[in-house]
Amino acid sequence: MNKAAWNSVEAEIAETQAIHLRELFAKDPDRASRFTIEAAGWTLDYSKNRITPALMKKLLALAEASDLKRWIDAMFSGEAINETENRAVLHTALRNQSDSPILVKGKDVMPDVRAVLDKMAQFSELVRKGKWLGHTGKRIKYVVNIGIGGSDLGPAMAYQSMKPYSKRSIACHFVSNVDASHLAETLREVKAEQTLFIVASKTFTTQETMTNAESARAWLIEKLGDSKAVAKHFVAVSTNAEKVAAFGIDTTNMFGFWDWVGGRYSLPSAVGLPLMIAIGPANYKKMLKGYYKMDRHFATAPFSRNLPVVMALLGILYANGYGAESYAVLPYDQYLARLAAYLQQLDMESNGKSIDRHGNRVPYSTGPIVWGEPGTNGQHAFYQLIHQGTRMIPCDFIGFCTSHNAISDHHDKLMANFFAQTEALAFGKTAEQCRAESVPEKLVPHKTFEGNHPTNTLLADALTPDTFGALVALYEHKVFTQGIIWNIFSFDQWGVELGKVLASKVLTELSAKEQPALKHDASTNALIRRYRAAKQ
Ligand code: F6P
Repeated sequence: MNKAAWNSVEAEIAETQAIHLRELFAKDPDRASRFTIEAAGWTLDYSKNRITPALMKKLLALAEASDLKRWIDAMFSGEAINETENRAVLHTALRNQSDSPILVKGKDVMPDVRAVLDKMAQFSELVRKGKWLGHTGKRIKYVVNIGIGGSDLGPAMAYQSMKPYSKRSIACHFVSNVDASHLAETLREVKAEQTLFIVASKTFTTQETMTNAESARAWLIEKLGDSKAVAKHFVAVSTNAEKVAAFGIDTTNMFGFWDWVGGRYSLPSAVGLPLMIAIGPANYKKMLKGYYKMDRHFATAPFSRNLPVVMALLGILYANGYGAESYAVLPYDQYLARLAAYLQQLDMESNGKSIDRHGNRVPYSTGPIVWGEPGTNGQHAFYQLIHQGTRMIPCDFIGFCTSHNAISDHHDKLMANFFAQTEALAFGKTAEQCRAESVPEKLVPHKTFEGNHPTNTLLADALTPDTFGALVALYEHKVFTQGIIWNIFSFDQWGVELGKVLASKVLTELSAKEQPALKHDASTNALIRRYRAAKQ
């Protein structure tokens, strides 16, 4: 992180941190409009943050000093900014709606991107129209996506989010966990003759996915009594044609993507196939357009009016200036119930790093812990801690002006809570207010709300494919911006490797016939022995 620019942010924090949001609002009648910006169908009101115009200026200067504009251009133009893997980072090409070529090592990737999208569209229509028939001639009624991490969280979250647009006669399921219960329970809900398995894995080597795929294949063959059935019931989404073929899936039924698409950024690639089957190619295209709108906004808007940049800077303010360990994502929309889980991978796998781009340990906090649940559920669970606990938890409140299910006054009630919560968090309730309400003196400290809790409010007219795509792109670019400012590599994930390697060693020890000579630490050795003893 640029030291001089950060020092000047810190100096400004020292000036403002004692000022309560109540005072900031009272002093500045234009505060709400001053700190509200719009893009791609979204309004971001960030006025309920612990900022002043002077502090925002310093934060924006931090972005400038981090060379953010150059990095944005480098990403969009296909430079190999994923240095530790020597790869370009071009998820933005997947939704590029312009005619401009995008070059990777001198080759325009757009024809391939469009070809895969066309192939996905043709296949999706066959399935949706009942023209893709299973081995026994029946139409597909169930889609089971087998993948994990980026090959699961994105399409699973998007499928749930876009439910109002989905074809209800085809049910999509998502199997990720290597725990056999996940596959077993899913298979109980589907009929083999009418099930399409999509094996989604960028590498096609991931232990969980390959294990689930093999067990699903065995189940299908057993149910249909013919190994030839696999051809009609299994397709693959991958970058690895060789492994797909080795698994036994005809590569004509493979939907490809490329090493310049990171797993957690892969939803708008072929990884989105289950979503496209569910909502159809036209709605999928609308989603890509929504992504693209936010991409263009990010690439062209001045930082002071740039939603991803502003949200990134606010996150840095709290993580580095106030020691906030986490932030909560609180969508007031049941369809977005899996958004926080999706953002956990996006943010924490991207920016959960402690080594900077020069190989040195960073002397400051980087990626925060992301968590959240839909409102209003969370209000009856963990909001207590946000309102009156000892930690600072900045929150993103996400809501919509209209509902897909206009039943009675549900939506007004939902949104009344949405608006009330950010008001309560910001302004709290003073001891004087409690006393004015005749609260017994003994209870006053307990019934006082300090307030001053920072929130962002993200509001759109409706949850549509368009606003959904823009929302995902907003968080992608926010995470990117923070990685640039923290001077870390956001597009690799070496931290997941060690556990994988150790697990494969432990696996041989768990399944060995004879008691293996265990050479782990005393704790791991004892736990493995305990497990082996119990399963015999
Ligand atoms: O283990 C982490 C990870 O590599 C993620 O980055 C990725 O999204 C996930 O595993 C799944 O990988 P694949 O799509 O190659 O199966």
